[in-house]
Amino acid sequence: VDISDDNSRITARLPSGESLTVLLYGATVVSWKNADGTDNLWVSEKAALDGSKPVRGGIPVVFPVFGPPPSNHATSSLPQHGFARNSRWEYLGKSTSEASAEPEASTTGTTADSSVKLDFGLSSSNLSPEARAAWPYDFGVVYSVTLGPNSLQTAVNVRNVGDKAWDFQVLFHTYLAIKDISKTHLTGLLGVTYTDKVLNASTATESNSKLAITGETDRVYKAIPQSTTTVIVDDKPRFDVIRDNLPDTVVWNPWKEKAAAMGDFSPDDAYKQMICVEAGAVADWTKLEAGDTWEGGVTCKSLL
Ligand code: BG6
Repeated sequence: VDISDDNSRITARLPSGESLTVLLYGATVVSWKNADGTDNLWVSEKAALDGSKPVRGGIPVVFPVFGPPPSNHATSSLPQHGFARNSRWEYLGKSTSEASAEPEASTTGTTADSSVKLDFGLSSSNLSPEARAAWPYDFGVVYSVTLGPNSLQTAVNVRNVGDKAWDFQVLFHTYLAIKDISKTHLTGLLGVTYTDKVLNASTATESNSKLAITGETDRVYKAIPQSTTTVIVDDKPRFDVIRDNLPDTVVWNPWKEKAAAMGDFSPDDAYKQMICVEAGAVADWTKLEAGDTWEGGVTCKSLL
């Protein structure tokens, strides 16, 4: 595996050609490409990549609060989506694993790494003084990003290293790149209860087995029993999004007016080329007792 580290971003490339780039700012995945160069993630042409604001695209990490913090909660002084996406993380290193361990191959030296895992760390001591003051709890998060053949896993290990309990929300704000929103459907949400943030946070139950996105969409699907959401483009599965210990999924597309109103969303009509399918634990709070650890993650499979 080729790794480059320029002190602001880490790029990894598998022998098979897949590649991944992660900014230390936010530990934001800003590129995930297939071996043939196809981009799986959408990143705005005007995304700030210099650490001046969270990245518009890729995979920002949302922690310890999703959305605007509730006023009656310990996170109330934090910015929308918390501090993980605009803090500088530490690169902790990589580990690799080999393709199906065939004994002959390893003795002849022809095995190639088939996946690489990059680990990033954020703890109370890495936070800005403002974030530390706004959320004065002792925590450690290890974020692991694993690139494999046609797949990317993002997973967190959250630790309470203090002496009192606290609660958190976490979410992977994944901007998937698609050819055409008008030809895109989601499956795997039928029968799931959701909160519709476009319709004043009203609650409904999904009645579509194939959900089309035809306007501004901002929904929190809760406690989803099935583990896989599939993004279908042109009647062909394009991505499988497979959750592990993450009960919820946010489906977001800003559509025309909201996209145009965001200064860092470009080009204006790029809302047609993206869909956010954001796996997380956000409908409720996850409580972590002193000394405890919690893990959750999501695997995206590129099905081209
Ligand atoms: C989604 C939220 O996860 O993120 C939306 O459900 C929000 O309500 C969107 O608009 C983008 O948020 P931000 O802070 O990156 O503009």
